[in-house]
Amino acid sequence: MPINYNFTDLVNTIEPGHLMATSNSFQDMMMRYQCAIMEVETKIRVLNEEFSLRMRRNPIESIKTRMKSPASIYEKMERRGYPLTIDSMERNLNDIAGVRVICSFPEDIYSVARLITEQDDIIVLQIKDYIANPKPNGYRSLHLIVAVPIFLANEKKNMKVEIQFRTIAMDFWASLEHKVKYKKDVENPEQVAKELKECADIIASVDYRMQEIEHSTSLVGKEKKE
Ligand code: GTP
Ligand code: MG
Repeated sequence: MPINYNFTDLVNTIEPGHLMATSNSFQDMMMRYQCAIMEVETKIRVLNEEFSLRMRRNPIESIKTRMKSPASIYEKMERRGYPLTIDSMERNLNDIAGVRVICSFPEDIYSVARLITEQDDIIVLQIKDYIANPKPNGYRSLHLIVAVPIFLANEKKNMKVEIQFRTIAMDFWASLEHKVKYKKDVENPEQVAKELKECADIIASVDYRMQEIEHSTSLVGKEKKE
């Protein structure tokens, strides 16, 4: 079913003539990004199926997808001073389509990410490894920007998708940090930031210890002892 975007926010900020000229193509662009999300989500699900048959466990806990809202698209384009055209949105924004893949263990992140990037219809545009190189606040995640082809009635088009890979623990941390970041009137922000950084480091160490436990107890690839 086509998604109808509400242009109320845009109507207030773009001259009416411009909006009239572009709203159809904006809908069209959003539909293409939605299709790109579906393509990436299916690819991840396929890998999860195969992996779970071979390894007898699921490397992926869950997948979340999100489309950037028209208001956020508009706000980011304005903030960065880009022209407000469909072409410029597609060229300059990497995160209109977002897929978040929550994995069981850190090694699953790298396995799934490698298998995705090796697929011959995927073009890797950017890799940011905030697991090997966490942000100063403690944020960890593996970010890929990929281009994936979608096949429509009359055209094939490569669409950009931001894929974020995290463990359950990294995602738990990022959710709280995100919430805290937007809270006003926090009494002791420095102390909160310090606490969060400490938790991020503890979480990272727990992730690897849990992975070790999984390794030492896994029967796959080992002879079953009587
Ligand atoms: P923008 O999306 O334009 O800000 O791009 P960027 O170049 O800053 O991208 P980056 O890959 O660093 O971050 C993209 C996304 O990752 C953000 O939109 C968030 O969803 C997530 N992210 C990055 N840093 C943080 C962080 O410190 N905390 C949390 N909770 N999420 C983060
Ligand atoms: Mg973003």
